[in-house]
Amino acid sequence: MAFDGIRQAAAVLRGARRIAVLTGAGISAESGVPTFRGPDGLWRKFRAEDLATPEAFARDPVLVWEWYDWRRGIIAKVAPNPGHVVLARWETRFPNFTLITQNVDGLHALAGSRRLLELHGNIWKTRCPDEGRVAENRDVPLSPIPPRCASCGGLLRPHIVWFGEGLDQDILRQAFAACAQADVVLAVGTSALVHPAASLPLAAAESGATVIEINPDPTPLTPHADISLRGKAGEILPRLAAALD
Ligand code: APR
Repeated sequence: MAFDGIRQAAAVLRGARRIAVLTGAGISAESGVPTFRGPDGLWRKFRAEDLATPEAFARDPVLVWEWYDWRRGIIAKVAPNPGHVVLARWETRFPNFTLITQNVDGLHALAGSRRLLELHGNIWKTRCPDEGRVAENRDVPLSPIPPRCASCGGLLRPHIVWFGEGLDQDILRQAFAACAQADVVLAVGTSALVHPAASLPLAAAESGATVIEINPDPTPLTPHADISLRGKAGEILPRLAAALD
């Protein structure tokens, strides 16, 4: 990856006051968490419609929970990588920094990010569909499967946004507001295919933000990016941080 892209991006970030970052599965790839659409991606091995939809859960809650239990088992063994760590540090380095993630793995929080918008939920949380109550559950392996609500005894579901479901409107509003006000938006490790998340960097660009994309491959966002840094987040973000200091 040409150094001039990093230098260019550093110059843009150095003068920025309000920064919004959108991350996707790619930022956790170097930690060992499978992405969704890459060569070894989850959607290459499993059918999303059998596992990540309300209909799948209604049809076979045990199968769906066994799949999430398997993913939780993988994620429980991994750690944040240097890309997560840089973004956690930037939270205090910049006056106004918002981290928006599509990831449910909790690695940004583990790396120290606090001002974090989890658009698609969190794999370590369950939700009671009847009461709406969200609770943390870090049991690995899960037992029993499927987990049941302590107060009403009902079937708990993963606190994750499935295909065909709406996102939390308050979280989404905060994400769009952060992007509309941003001087710079970084899109890191996302295929930019799933909306409304994929619309966030475009909304920022429409409001005049500079768009920086970090991804080994081009995406539908690439034509709209001012700077495209081709490479891995765990390598590029530390180099970008070093160029800033
Ligand atoms: N560093 C940066 N980017 C990477 C790396 C890496 N080391 N490895 C892979 N990538 C890029 C891939 O090139 C791809 O563009 O990360 C992106 C991962 O894309 P997806 O697997 O589609 O993941 P994501 O964009 O997060 O998917 C969005 O789709 O399945 C749903 O809800 C799920 O949140 C997910 C959403």
